[in-house]
Amino acid sequence: MTTGRIRRVTHPDPRDSDLVRAARGLPTSRTPVWFMRQAGRSLPEYREVRADVPMLQACRTPELVCEITMQPVRRHGVDAAIFFSDIVVPLAAAGVGVEIKAGVGPVVAHPVRTAADVAALPELDASQLDDVAQSVRLLNVELGGTPLIGFAGAPFTLASYLVEGGPSKNLEHTKALMYGAPGVWDALCAKLARISGTFLRVQAEAGASAIQLFDSWVGALPLTDYRRFVQPHSAVALAAVADLDVPRIHFGVGTGELLAAMGEAGADVVGVDYRVSLDEAARRVGSSYSLQGNLDPALLFAPWEPLEAKVREILAAGKAARGHIFNLGHGVLPSTDPDVLTRVVELVHSASS
Ligand code: CP3
Repeated sequence: MTTGRIRRVTHPDPRDSDLVRAARGLPTSRTPVWFMRQAGRSLPEYREVRADVPMLQACRTPELVCEITMQPVRRHGVDAAIFFSDIVVPLAAAGVGVEIKAGVGPVVAHPVRTAADVAALPELDASQLDDVAQSVRLLNVELGGTPLIGFAGAPFTLASYLVEGGPSKNLEHTKALMYGAPGVWDALCAKLARISGTFLRVQAEAGASAIQLFDSWVGALPLTDYRRFVQPHSAVALAAVADLDVPRIHFGVGTGELLAAMGEAGADVVGVDYRVSLDEAARRVGSSYSLQGNLDPALLFAPWEPLEAKVREILAAGKAARGHIFNLGHGVLPSTDPDVLTRVVELVHSASS
């Protein structure tokens, strides 16, 4: 008789993974690697399952979220999964009129530019994200010991879409509001910080092992304005998960001048794009933060030999940091050859173990 004997499949704890350890500045068996936008159009299996499903609908369908999030983990052997969703999902969940247009990005039905517009923005209740919690729980079963990174858009980057009404090169309406009506700007970002914080907390409570706050477009600001108009709000969003056991990564593009201030907002890891080398970034942030980055996504289109040399150079420069998570300086470009990504993962692992 075998009754009474419980066979349990035990997985390593994602909290002991190289990714979480590097984020905390603890020794790792090798340098962990994942890629922003690793789930997406570079993968034929992604294009297949997304064929007839609008982006925001895909993000709210747990079985699809689980499948798409798993695709790059299976294919590339990366050290973390990034939750398949979008920075505007919590806005849509709260009832904001927003859609994602393919090849364009988020488009907002009614741009937010006045005190009345801000007052009319809804708040987000965690109960409106039950599908997100369900997706995270499904993923934890699938992932075993591989950590899941939850994420949210930071208040500034979310505000830029709401104020501009869609993607924008110069952020002129955003800056006009920030400098022209600072009280309205602060009220908007305070609301967005609560929405981001709720989105992060739902993912962390459901089992994400780390979180990343994306402030993709904040490199448009100088340091003094970052400190005045952005950092306090990002700090509120990051503080929403401060009592949970999840390291926090904080990333933006073109943020060389802001790296230390982004760490001080309440991060364990500062994301670096390809414009600043990791040894210089380590000097800028000091020894209290790990770094993530920083291969130029366009270099994945270069021949292997210079690409390999660049990966090795980044690994060497990353040694200057408290801990290093290998990544791109921004997301995978849609026409990237996925086999090159797999090869980079293998190289990062073999060169760092
Ligand atoms: O692997 C992953 O990173 C997947 C999860 C993810 C997506 N968006 C999926 C997505 C994450 C973390 C995001 C965050 C996001 N969304 C950011 C911050 C990261 C960054 O890139 O700076 C921003 C600024 C957005 C807003 C947004 N959503 C943009 C600019 C776009 C691209 C528009 C396009 O088609 O070129 C989107 C859409 C989007 N988000 C896609 C994916 C896979 C493409 C939609 C599709 O496949 O139809």
